[in-house]
Amino acid sequence: MSAPGVRLPIDLRPVNERLRIFSGIQPTGRKHLGNYIGAIRQYVEGQDRGEAIYCIVDLHAISVAYDPVELRERLYDTAAILLAAGVDPERCIFFRQSDVREHTELTWLLSAVTAHGDLNRMHQFKEKSAKQRELVSAALFFYPVLMAADVLAYRAHEVPVGDDQRQHVELMREIARRFNERFGETLVVPEHRIPPVGARIMDLQDPTSKMSTTGGSEQGTVYVLDEPDAILKKFRSAVTDSGREVRRGPGKEGISNLIEIISVARGVDPEEIEREFEGAGYGDFKKAVAEAVIDYLAPVRERYAELRPDEAELERVLAVGAEKARAIASEVLADVRERMGFGPARG
Ligand code: TYM
Repeated sequence: MSAPGVRLPIDLRPVNERLRIFSGIQPTGRKHLGNYIGAIRQYVEGQDRGEAIYCIVDLHAISVAYDPVELRERLYDTAAILLAAGVDPERCIFFRQSDVREHTELTWLLSAVTAHGDLNRMHQFKEKSAKQRELVSAALFFYPVLMAADVLAYRAHEVPVGDDQRQHVELMREIARRFNERFGETLVVPEHRIPPVGARIMDLQDPTSKMSTTGGSEQGTVYVLDEPDAILKKFRSAVTDSGREVRRGPGKEGISNLIEIISVARGVDPEEIEREFEGAGYGDFKKAVAEAVIDYLAPVRERYAELRPDEAELERVLAVGAEKARAIASEVLADVRERMGFGPARG
């Protein structure tokens, strides 16, 4: 159904000429190797490919039980990890979600074109709501609408995420399409960017479940800030299988996961790893994976230690980012508001 009265499409060409990338990360818990390989690594690469916008999504964090004091601490931790990893505020827009009010406003506006049934089908809502002991908040149900607003407020083309966010990106595409059909061409329908290797890093103790801050085991979760000794111990005790071949395949979830991890850490193809470790024992292979990950994460941990103490500087960086973000989002919001019939009609 199109809107009453003829609507000329808003000229999206200026934005389409340059690839715009948007992604968000929650400030909850400790960031792990899954976050790093599935998402953070892509944020850094994205800065070379287009106009990158990265956001620490503190508003999403309140959808489950949380402590306000800890939220602020974790926000600084996350900001320092991203900066240490190579997110560069000179080459991207890096900000805190709650500093840009347009996200919350757009969430409500988009809720008018979001199907309740679609939200009900979200895997992550089902999983997370089952884990809540006290309150399953409406915020948890609405989480995907806020996530859609994050991306659509910038008319971003591409959303780098891990595999677990596939369904959320599909939903934001649907919301954008429905908005455009109902109110005229206004929003960009974004695409996900899920890496071919490392999109779903699994728990080292249970390689059938993804590595995660909330659901996983402590021993099976490698944190970005883990000391080398801890990393070595975790990989040494990683669950594999009763076979002997360092090869990916069915029934070899543990080894497949380790092959993906080492290939990303070393920056080579998984096939090359399989060739190199042909005939090697699992013990030697696990040690090699640990060493590669230690080398991969060491510079991040060192840089983090320098950056984290200076909270005033982190605040300064985030404030500059928020201003740039607001400049883009407020224009999109003005179009959305006008299209939806709020305020005086524009000429
Ligand atoms: P969060 O903070 O839970 O996860 C951040 C990113 O890490 C990826 N990830 C993984 N990748 C590979 N293997 C794993 N085991 C693994 N665990 C997590 C996630 O896919 C994600 O990319 N809902 C988002 C946050 C968000 C967002 C957005 C993302 C809010 N608004 C807008 C993109 C665009 C999330 O899951 O964050």
